[in-house]
Amino acid sequence: MSKRNIVITGGAGFIGSHVVRLFVNKYPEYNIINLDKLTYAGNLANLKDIEDKPNYKFVKMDICDFEAFCKLMQEERIDGIIHLAAESHVDRSIKDPFTFARTNVMGTLSLLQAAKLYWESLPEKYVGKLFYHISTDEVYGALTMNHPEGIEPPFTTTASSGGYHHAYGKDFFYEDTKYNPHSPYSASKASSDHFVRAFHDTYGMPTVVTNCSNNYGPYQFPEKLIPLFIHNICHRKPLPVYGKGENVRDWLFVEDHARAIDLIFHQGKVADTYNIGSFNEWKNIDIIKVVIRTVDRLLERREGEDMDLITYVTDRLGHDARYAIDSSKLQKELGWEPLYQFEEGIEKTVRWYLENQEWMDNITSGEYERYYDSMYNNR
Ligand code: NAD
Ligand code: TYD
Repeated sequence: MSKRNIVITGGAGFIGSHVVRLFVNKYPEYNIINLDKLTYAGNLANLKDIEDKPNYKFVKMDICDFEAFCKLMQEERIDGIIHLAAESHVDRSIKDPFTFARTNVMGTLSLLQAAKLYWESLPEKYVGKLFYHISTDEVYGALTMNHPEGIEPPFTTTASSGGYHHAYGKDFFYEDTKYNPHSPYSASKASSDHFVRAFHDTYGMPTVVTNCSNNYGPYQFPEKLIPLFIHNICHRKPLPVYGKGENVRDWLFVEDHARAIDLIFHQGKVADTYNIGSFNEWKNIDIIKVVIRTVDRLLERREGEDMDLITYVTDRLGHDARYAIDSSKLQKELGWEPLYQFEEGIEKTVRWYLENQEWMDNITSGEYERYYDSMYNNR
């Protein structure tokens, strides 16, 4: 295996920390640089187990800082970029769309331009280089719940890969599905995807884009549905279900996403797009009930006794009805398969949050934010 110098942006966040951990442990011959601004969502405690490894380095940097990133590309002789840094929460994007345009669009463009300048200055130019952009299925918009005549959803249907969908509708997101983003978050991600593809088409930069479904697992910031609800159930706080809880999301265990990223980084076709998902659709209210039962059981409460915490609240503006990914292309072309069944993944996830209450308490008390601010801003 040859030596590589790779920047992973957003490595202190939820998915990024799993990708950093996987690469640092699996490829001791690579230099892995975790570049992260440490916004409210970034937390170096996510990487405690690998922070002392010789092939790992953390750099606190804003992806919008073009000059600083140009310098880093040169100094570290970067040949691969795996770009996860982003503002990632739809509710925040509804309140503050500007931050999303700045980080997700301008930040991505800044990385692309810096990579272009550096790689084009080398004798070998783009040979052996890759800009890998991590995106979301939300860029495709929303699907409907049109199910086959006479069959009540969720139903099982054969996917084009030969696998099965646990599905609420007949239509799915494919790699060639037209972009139709609705939220400021998904609009900003769609825009960044277009910039990445434009850098391939215009300058010949080797790029790849993947669009993944909703992730769940350890280290997810507790503003997202699953960790927020686990936290609230533990503390017997209300569980705010938007609208009727009928919206459908397609859930993938985060370690399976990280494995897909590893595979695509090494074997994906340049300029291509891959959808990542595990054919695992759930109505919000159903997944919430599974989470309540699992937390209750693991805390040795009566299973289901916390159902009365469910509180229906005003719906999210522009709330997308259904997301469902068809990942047959990735399965057929690169042989990726999710390792986790949903039941196993959710059990592992709930257990992790219950066993890592301190991690959760630090975030919810805002302590880690103050700690890292003082640690890095005063150097
Ligand atoms: P996250 O919010 O947990 O983490 C984002 C990370 O990016 C944080 O560490 C944050 O500090 C960092 N960051 C934010 N702005 C930055 C900036 N200007 N400069 C440098 N770093 C900055 O997000 P996540 O859920 O891990 O998502 C990671 C990526 O995967 C995002 O691009 C997201 O769009 C995409 N994605 C997420 C999901 C999901 O379900 N979470 C699904 C599909 C795709
Ligand atoms: P979220 O985890 O924010 O992911 P996304 O919006 O990217 O899909 O939300 C998942 C689903 O859960 C989404 O349909 C909105 C819903 N939701 C609630 O009903 N209540 C909540 O408090 C949150 C955070 C989400």
